[in-house]
Amino acid sequence: MSSTPTKISIACPKGGTGRTTIAVHLADRIAASGRRVLLRDADAQGSAIGWAFLADQVRAAAGTPFLPFTVGRGGAPDAFDIIITDHGPADEPAADADIVVAPISLDGVALAVGLGALQRLALAGRDPIIIASKYRPDRAEHRHALALPALAGALIVRDRSALAGWYATGRTIYDEAHGRAHGIALARGDVDAVVSAVLRRLPAGPDPFADIFRAEH
Ligand SMILES: Nc1ncnc2c1ncn2[C@@H]1O[C@H](COP(=O)(O)OP(=O)(O)O)[C@@H](O)[C@H]1O
Ligand SMILES: [Mg+2]
Repeated sequence: MSSTPTKISIACPKGGTGRTTIAVHLADRIAASGRRVLLRDADAQGSAIGWAFLADQVRAAAGTPFLPFTVGRGGAPDAFDIIITDHGPADEPAADADIVVAPISLDGVALAVGLGALQRLALAGRDPIIIASKYRPDRAEHRHALALPALAGALIVRDRSALAGWYATGRTIYDEAHGRAHGIALARGDVDAVVSAVLRRLPAGPDPFADIFRAEH
């Protein structure tokens, strides 16, 4: 594993586009892949820190293990393999980010703001992972937005009540006990696609069979 952490910026200048929701789910899944993850809350509102506070309470009450990743304002970078920054509204992604994830709203002015941000990223030579966030196929406005060239190749995370609900109560949709519900399974499918796209861009993770090979030789 590399000694300098890989930096992931989750940014969109428009608030309410699902940045923090994506951030906590990415942190959860990347930590599950065996990497040491810091979720850095760069939003003055502190939503990720608030979520983690709830998550700790929920887990303590349920007797389940604590969060498998760290959430905070900063931290010693070399203690982590991955640093995910959950940006506030109006923030541009960090200039030194290795990976930029841009959740874009498909609604009117919010869409226009998001498209502007994508244009700046393109001008800066960046290749963001674009998320068409809270997509509703029943809305013509959303369907038209998905047909825009700027959103070609965007990953779709639908408007899913399961995703909003578990996030609001300090959980992720990957919490084992709730995994069988239909809505959760669909939401997992959406988020899995984002997680896979990010994992594909990460340096190789820890080898889960390394200990076995050491034991055999
Ligand atoms: N895919 C989704 N489907 C439904 N609700 C969502 C989805 N993503 C986020 N939300 C909800 O939208 C609101 C804003 O999400 P949040 O992640 O806090 O956005 P941001 O960090 O960009 O401000 C929250 O109430 C959250 O639960
Ligand atoms: Mg947020």
